[in-house]
Amino acid sequence: MVKEKIIMDVDTGTDDAVALVMALLGEEYELLGISAVNGNVELRCTADNSQRVVECCGKEESVKVYAGADIPLVCTLDPQSAQARYPLPIRESYGEVDNMMHGFHLPLPEAKHPYEKRSSIFWMAETLLQAGEKEISLVPTGPLTNIALLLRTVPEVIPHIKRVVLMGGGHFIANASSAAEFNIWADPEAAEILLQSGLDITFVPLDATHQALISAEEAEEIAAIGTAPAKFVSAVIKERIARYSRRDRDMAEYGAAPVHDALALCALTHPEVLKDVRECDCHVDIGRGISYGRTVFDLRERVQPEAPNCRVALGADKDFFYQWILGILKSGKEC
Ligand code: BDR
Ligand code: CA
Repeated sequence: MVKEKIIMDVDTGTDDAVALVMALLGEEYELLGISAVNGNVELRCTADNSQRVVECCGKEESVKVYAGADIPLVCTLDPQSAQARYPLPIRESYGEVDNMMHGFHLPLPEAKHPYEKRSSIFWMAETLLQAGEKEISLVPTGPLTNIALLLRTVPEVIPHIKRVVLMGGGHFIANASSAAEFNIWADPEAAEILLQSGLDITFVPLDATHQALISAEEAEEIAAIGTAPAKFVSAVIKERIARYSRRDRDMAEYGAAPVHDALALCALTHPEVLKDVRECDCHVDIGRGISYGRTVFDLRERVQPEAPNCRVALGADKDFFYQWILGILKSGKEC
């Protein structure tokens, strides 16, 4: 099997953690390294959490964690903005720490090894420049600050990037505000820089991830696999279900939760998991009004751009996604 060479750019986070387990254990991936970014929680927590996941999967010798940006690109220009309250954990700025989706630390033993001290932006630049043309794919599952800094600092990396499959945005669904999804809302300017790069970009937005819910029964089935990574994945999915149920009536009725970031990784190697995929132009509202951070996908049928700048999935195949998770966890690559 030809392995897909990937760099994960993450703000770990429970669903980032599930995506990382899949990338670390899935035979279809060659995970070159992990780049952490500020997002769900502070950078030092997202990097430390990522290191814990690597060690849970027994991959600390081969996969290193690097830390990148600890603050969004331009948020301090508007000190009144919610984004400007960094480096406080972003969820704390909502004043609802108890309702945090992710908690500060994942339920894993403390990391035995510290994450790397070298900036993830320099590490990504070097790694990409050493690679062949279109050799490495990027899977960003957090705010796009690191990716924008990389593209602006070393644009020579662009020919080496095969494609970008990211979790972010929403067409009919929003979460961080009435208009915007969290990863894009947290650093809208960074997302727009990526969209203007000419790279091959696939959005896996909330519209897709909310069709790929994992239930409590399925989380039980995952735990029954019995390995440490499977038990961890099960525990964080159950925690997500509990937290979603407390704040979302639909999810409470379903007894299920989205595992957003893992769907983006699945879509990289199994595009068939995505449904209702449209090629279109997308731009991010960077106007600092009520829709700040909204992804505006132009889906008008009569407007056919000659060179659409992305594709976006408005749906997903839940059963395929769940079987992919089960398959990797059962594949015996566990620690
Ligand atoms: C995205 O925001 C984060 O909270 C999750 O990790 C996911 O990447 C969902 O909006
Ligand atoms: Ca994330």
